Amino acid sequence: MTSHVLDLAGAGIGPFNLSLAAQLDSVPQLSVRFFERRPSFAWHPGMMLPGAEMQTSILKDLVTATNPTSRWSFLSYLVAHKRFYQFLNAEYEAVPRKEFADYLGWVARGLTSLRFGSQLREIHANDGVFSVTTDDGAIEARSLSVGVGKIPARPAWAEQLAKSITFHSSEAAQRLSGIKAARIAVIGGGQSGAEIVDALLDQNGVSTIHWVSRRPNFEPLDATPFTNELFTPSYMERFHGLPEELRLTHTRRQVLASDGVSASTLKKLYRRLYERRLEMLNTPDQGISLRPFRNVIAAVQDGPEVTLTMRNGFDDSIETLAVDLIVLATGYRFVLPDFLHSLENRIELSSIGEPVLNSDFSLAWDGPGENRIFVLNAGRHSHGIAEPQLSLAAWRSAVIANALLGHEHFNVGQLDPIVQWETQAHPSGLSTHMGQAAE
Ligand SMILES: Cc1cc2nc3c(=O)[nH]c(=O)nc-3n(C[C@H](O)[C@H](O)[C@H](O)COP(=O)(O)OP(=O)(O)OC[C@H]3O[C@@H](n4cnc5c(N)ncnc54)[C@H](O)[C@@H]3O)c2cc1C
Ligand SMILES: NC(=O)c1ccc[n+]([C@@H]2O[C@H](COP(=O)([O-])OP(=O)(O)OC[C@H]3O[C@@H](n4cnc5c(N)ncnc54)[C@H](OP(=O)(O)O)[C@@H]3O)[C@@H](O)[C@H]2O)c1
Repeated sequence: MTSHVLDLAGAGIGPFNLSLAAQLDSVPQLSVRFFERRPSFAWHPGMMLPGAEMQTSILKDLVTATNPTSRWSFLSYLVAHKRFYQFLNAEYEAVPRKEFADYLGWVARGLTSLRFGSQLREIHANDGVFSVTTDDGAIEARSLSVGVGKIPARPAWAEQLAKSITFHSSEAAQRLSGIKAARIAVIGGGQSGAEIVDALLDQNGVSTIHWVSRRPNFEPLDATPFTNELFTPSYMERFHGLPEELRLTHTRRQVLASDGVSASTLKKLYRRLYERRLEMLNTPDQGISLRPFRNVIAAVQDGPEVTLTMRNGFDDSIETLAVDLIVLATGYRFVLPDFLHSLENRIELSSIGEPVLNSDFSLAWDGPGENRIFVLNAGRHSHGIAEPQLSLAAWRSAVIANALLGHEHFNVGQLDPIVQWETQAHPSGLSTHMGQAAE
């Protein structure tokens, strides 16, 4: 055990804790260390499919929103790699995910507070410190930052299916190469489902792709200006102050603002299907069937074949479909990591069983106030649909840094939103709920 008590220990190094580490790199008075179980940085490697693009601006990087002079910005990365001018000349509307992942990896290699190949295993709260067990050994820390991401969401009907004939989208890059199945069903009408269908269209040996979505159609991501107001700190502050019932209702309504399919992906797919029709004019079976508005309710495996039963919401009927392989592009869900189980009974849960998060992203628990447990990527229902996205990651990291320091080191104050959300507008032009503007 190190004799030194850290100010913060972080579990997981995905983009969210990486952003926190990058922001804290400019705060030398805090001693911090982050642990990642992977041997080196990787950003959703199973979804690094050819042609995948970012859904957010490069200005929504790890630091810029609250720390524009940080050396860990995307622009710094471009300059360091001598690609600044060529990047501009490429005129990307959406940057390749591969390049953004490379940027994240560059930051991860540059920060000295990160430890890779070291899983965080156990945590115990004792006398004002957390005792933390990692593969690297034991340490002590006054606060924790849990950035372990989400786990694949697999529908109950898929649980009994053999692993050889079903996999989650998070494994797509590995499982799609050398695929043998003739008839494939992709379940899920979000961005992952769309990217996998696009990749399958390039695959030899696949006779039919069925794209099944529960949503009424293949619905676009709404990235228009007033919807983008939901991805601002000012909106997040107001959202967090609402009663739980309203937050849950609003989140359900806003799903396409965060989880629709990018317009560019939809257009690309539509054109590919159109061109396929041109090429196969006299062929009745064109190898793809698009089935939105279908809720898969059962799957029965018989040897190498699976029969899916679906409720079709368009004509309210039951449909069946026989396939050889099922790709579950059915999203992700947050679960409390195992290492927090020792504190389980001390953590306040919401009506839907999620940890209650304070405005500074620390969870509500019965321990001492100075021992905070910040949880990232668990706040969709407490802070809004922007919380699981990159959009406000740099700002959130600054809010957490301020909370650790106990003063406004980073200026996190913002102008009031353009839209007046609440009946009673805030009197000043600055948001004040989560963080005040630094003097
Ligand atoms: C394919 C994909 C693309 C996306 N693209 C965008 C986008 O373009 N724009 C956008 O705004 N959002 C995007 N998102 C949403 C979101 O930004 C990402 O999911 C993001 O990766 C979340 O970051 P994270 O740090 O919470 O989790 P993750 O990236 O999942 O990282 C968590 C890390 O924690 C590690 N870990 C877990 N448990 C432990 C432990 N006990 N000890 C040590 N390490 C542990 C894991 O190995 C992992 O590396 C995307 C999501 C997906 C799935
Ligand atoms: N390139 C990129 O930037 C990129 C790539 C991938 C993902 N992402 C992001 O990562 C997040 C997760 O995306 P995702 O596509 O993995 O998940 P997602 O957006 O949650 O989509 C999951 C889909 O599965 C459907 N579904 C679940 N159970 C079903 C069932 N039984 N029958 C039929 N359909 C079912 C859901 O329908 P309902 O909506 O009805 O529940 C939804 O359409 C999103 O924010 C996304 O934008 C980004």
